Amino acid sequence: MGAIFGKHSRSCDCGSLRAGDSGREVTLMGWVSRRRDLGKAGQFVVLRDRGGETQLFLSPEVSAEAFELGSGLHAEDCVAVRGRVQDRGENRNPHMATGEIEVHVTELEVLSRSETPPFPVRDDPGAGEPLRLKHRYLDLRRGAMQRIFRVRSQITSAVRQTLSARGFQEVETPMLIKYTPGGARNFLVPSRLHEGRFFALAESPQIFKQLLMVAGFDRYFQIVRCFRDENPRQDRQAEFTQIDLEMSFVTEEEVFAEVEAMVASVWETVTNERPETPFLRMTWSDAMARYGTDKPDLRFGLEHVTITKLVAGSGFRVFDAVTEAGGMVKALRVEGGAARFSRKGMDELTRHVQKEEVAGAKGLAFAKVDPEGAWKGPLAKPLSPEVQARISEAVGLQPGDLLLVVADRAPVAHRAADALRREVAARLGLVDEDRWCFCWITDFPLLQWSEEAQRLTPSHHPFTMPRPEDLDLLETAPERVRALAYDLVLNGNEIAGGSIRIHDAAVQARVLEALGMSEEEARAKFGFLMDAFRYGPPPHGGIAAGLDRLTMLLAGTESIRDVIAFPKTINAQDLMTGAPDPVSPDQLRELHIQVSDDPTTR
Ligand code: AMO
Ligand code: AMP
Repeated sequence: MGAIFGKHSRSCDCGSLRAGDSGREVTLMGWVSRRRDLGKAGQFVVLRDRGGETQLFLSPEVSAEAFELGSGLHAEDCVAVRGRVQDRGENRNPHMATGEIEVHVTELEVLSRSETPPFPVRDDPGAGEPLRLKHRYLDLRRGAMQRIFRVRSQITSAVRQTLSARGFQEVETPMLIKYTPGGARNFLVPSRLHEGRFFALAESPQIFKQLLMVAGFDRYFQIVRCFRDENPRQDRQAEFTQIDLEMSFVTEEEVFAEVEAMVASVWETVTNERPETPFLRMTWSDAMARYGTDKPDLRFGLEHVTITKLVAGSGFRVFDAVTEAGGMVKALRVEGGAARFSRKGMDELTRHVQKEEVAGAKGLAFAKVDPEGAWKGPLAKPLSPEVQARISEAVGLQPGDLLLVVADRAPVAHRAADALRREVAARLGLVDEDRWCFCWITDFPLLQWSEEAQRLTPSHHPFTMPRPEDLDLLETAPERVRALAYDLVLNGNEIAGGSIRIHDAAVQARVLEALGMSEEEARAKFGFLMDAFRYGPPPHGGIAAGLDRLTMLLAGTESIRDVIAFPKTINAQDLMTGAPDPVSPDQLRELHIQVSDDPTTR
């Protein structure tokens, strides 16, 4: 008796029924979300599945048997019901998509029982993240999580459709690959069959997609898992997913156009609105000057003004010390800001930019412009009226404005002014949360000085093409060479990055030389790529977008763990399965990994 499953198929999911369905006999299956007992009069049970929630009504009058079974239901029991759809008339629930109706249950079958869940499965589960990650399958049952994964699936399906229609071919590349140094730290996989040898897990398909261009594949894409042994960071995961593209015979502009078409179709699919293309373009040096970062949030103004030259030799010892040491002074005008920041507010801003993880600035200088146009505050005294007038003009100060100034080594000044800009915008509510501000950042420097390595290293990777007009600087001023490298930035997030690659052996040799890498060293590291490039490599370029970040932005969530079905914690652990785990000494021996028999040294 009561067997519904196997006899009847589901009529629809729990989010579908509306007033127009009144009178229909339906079969629903799902989980018990909550139950409200009205005593003899009956009981309400809210049933949930991927589609949403439906209210069921069980009463002894409709079915004594179903009513009885219903009384024994607990949250998260898995059940099947049959019943008739009833219009709720006056009693509609406007907060539920199916609130126009309820289903009067004639038959109920318990498919499986649930123990009391460790936290309630609802939008605000009131449980800490560790508990939710340990029982991820229950966390994922929540409507809010289900919505995120619907967005993620919409994105990948729009990407596949658009790229396929535009002539891109999906090709899989290996994940177990040769270790090549540089770039992110790799995970290593010991080889059982070859003692003492290791594979690396691919940090990206970079070299393979370039080899596919040599192979004549013309337009490649892949939605691909990448592995990077990153230090714990809030917006990064050890395994993450790229939408990876490479194209032959293309210029930068042609790469941009393909990505814009792909992104526009993704946005149209998920938000029903197509962003305007082409996206804005800004050079890297422009972005650094105006925003102090290569991923500016363009939803608000508060641009930086560099005033180094205006304050050199001003007599204010803070500015003089910095300008004499070759540093940089940056100013921000906060329109009408004088009245918006109290003494306490200014102290908080100062402490914010001084934090090591924010900018490590030494201080924050400021002035408020009074209604008569006179400066008040710490900068009023040490700067002469002439210097004040010069700054006022350069920054466009008006009565009532607040002037913020940071002085430091250029990288710190940029970081501090960037942090200030974002903090002030957040505090004053200047960020328009409904806007999508896409922007291409172009002309990245080819090389950058690495404090860690104490030498020039590639900003992107060693196969990135220098701008042709900068080629001659490779030997004379390599740090000034601009690259045909670009990032796509959205609301302050880097969502994609790529470049045009070098296909000319002579140019490649000059770049390796500028990197201080000998031919032999390069051969040892990338020999297989250099060999392939002896056989007519086409001009080519590409890009990779971070699928997880795109999903975060489109789903409106702050944590990368929300958009990955089974994520690792920030410390790279899987709390559900317990990975990483110790393995047996036998397993290690099989992999030729030395194990000590002394347990204290293990
Ligand atoms: P890149 O290293 O810039 O380029 O990566 C491309 C995009 O991937 C995303 N991303 C990440 N997302 C989550 N967790 C991480 N640990 C992580 N690391 C990167 C970012 C980034 O924009 N092969 C080149 C691309 C190319 O040149 O074509 C590459 O991997 O959104
Ligand atoms: P001090 O004499 O160190 O207290 O600094 C005088 C003023 O300059 C204070 O308002 C400091 O916050 C500010 N200041 C100090 N160092 C910097 C800096 N590197 N950039 C901007 N302002 C600074």
